[in-house]
Order: sequence, then C-alpha cells, then structure tokens
Amino acid sequence: MSILLLGGSPSLPSSSSRLLLHIGDRLAVHGHQLQRLHVRDLPAQALLHADIDDAGIRRAIDAVASAQAIVIATPVYKASYSGVLKAFLDLLPQDGLAGKLVLPLATGGTQSHMLALDYALRPVLHALAAKQVLTSIFATSQQLVWQDDDGLTLAPPIAARVTAGVDELVTALAPLTRLRAAHSVHVANGAPVRSLQDHPYTPASQAA
Ligand SMILES: Cc1cc2nc3c(=O)[nH]c(=O)nc-3n(C[C@H](O)[C@H](O)[C@H](O)COP(=O)(O)O)c2cc1C
Repeated sequence: MSILLLGGSPSLPSSSSRLLLHIGDRLAVHGHQLQRLHVRDLPAQALLHADIDDAGIRRAIDAVASAQAIVIATPVYKASYSGVLKAFLDLLPQDGLAGKLVLPLATGGTQSHMLALDYALRPVLHALAAKQVLTSIFATSQQLVWQDDDGLTLAPPIAARVTAGVDELVTALAPLTRLRAAHSVHVANGAPVRSLQDHPYTPASQAA
C-alpha cells in the first residue's frame, strides 16, 4: 500500500523527521510503498497565501489524496503541533483524509506536553474525515539520539512504542492490502472487478 510520510517540522535537522523516517524504514520492510513530504519544502509564499493552484502545493495535496495511510510527524510547539503543519492541513479538502489510516507522532522538549497530539492534532485529523487515527507516538528529544555514523538510536520505551505503532498500522492495512491483491487477480483474469469503493475503509462499506 502507499504510505505518505508527512513531516511537519520547519527545522532542519529535525528530531520528529528523523523519527518519521525511521518509522518509514520499518514500514518499507513490510513491502509498503513510501512517499515523503516535508511541509518545510513547500513553497512558503504559496503555503501562506493558501494558493492551491501552485504546482508544488497541488502535488502535495495530490500526494495526500493518493496515500492509503499517512504517518504524520510534528514537533510540539507551544503545547500544540506546528503552525506550518496546520497551514498545510488547512489546504486539504474538508474530507481530505477520508478512508485513510493515520499514525500521528510528535517530539517535544519535555514530557509535559505529551498529550498535545491527542488534544490538538487528533481532532483535526478526525475533522478531515480520517477513517482511523492510530495510537499516537510521543518522544522527547532526549529519547532520540542521533549520530552521523550510526543514525538514530531510540530509548527503549520509544523503541517499544514504535514497534507497537508500526505493527498496529501494518495490521490495520492488511485487509486493504488483501483486497488490492484480489483486485489485481480479477483484472488479470478478465473477471468482473469489484469496485475499490467497496473496500473496508470507505464510509459506504462501513454503513452496510
Ligand atoms: C518555537 C518552539 C516552541 C516549542 N514549544 C514546546 C512546547 O510547548 N512543549 C515542548 O515540550 N517542547 C516545545 N518545544 C521543543 C520542541 O518540541 C522539541 O525540540 C522538538 O523535538 C523539536 O522537533 P523538530 O526537531 O522536529 O523540530 C518548542 C520548540 C520551539 C522551537
């Protein structure tokens, strides 16, 4: 399945982006296709002016639309998530996350704001109609050690939390992966194709 890694830090280097890419590596092992999108790379003026006709902004919105799952990372800023991430989320259609699985993660300076994802970002993800927002992952900067030679080392509690989060996402994607595989077989056999609109993450099939 296609998974978008969405980085919401304006900084470089970035702790939250490192954790995001680490999780991406873990997901790639399971055969998922990964795309990366860092909000800081978007054209700043177009982002601030909400110019959805800008080619770079358009591509970013399309990247969200084409993903089945999104891992979304942010630093904690002022007890919430980053402003640049909000600027980008504001450009998505109201149902821009419909049918998608979302795994939120954040890094912060202290444990004090470890719930910021849950009280600040999670409601926004649901407002964008995310199908399922998985258990959040939070780490302090001190729990992530970066060395140029060795890359990222996670403190044991974070390593365990990341493993659980990756497992949760892979498990949640499994029914959709199986449906895609069945769809491919039907196409290859020339048999009637069941619409992907029927897949288990659409509101329609949920209501049935
Ligand atoms: C403007 C600003 C505001 C911040 N506000 C908070 C905060 O309210 N609570 C917190 O725990 N950390 C806060 N921090 C620390 C960052 O969340 C922390 O350093 C984070 O790991 C940075 O992630 P990044 O490197 O991906 O940008 C703040 C940092 C900055 C620069």
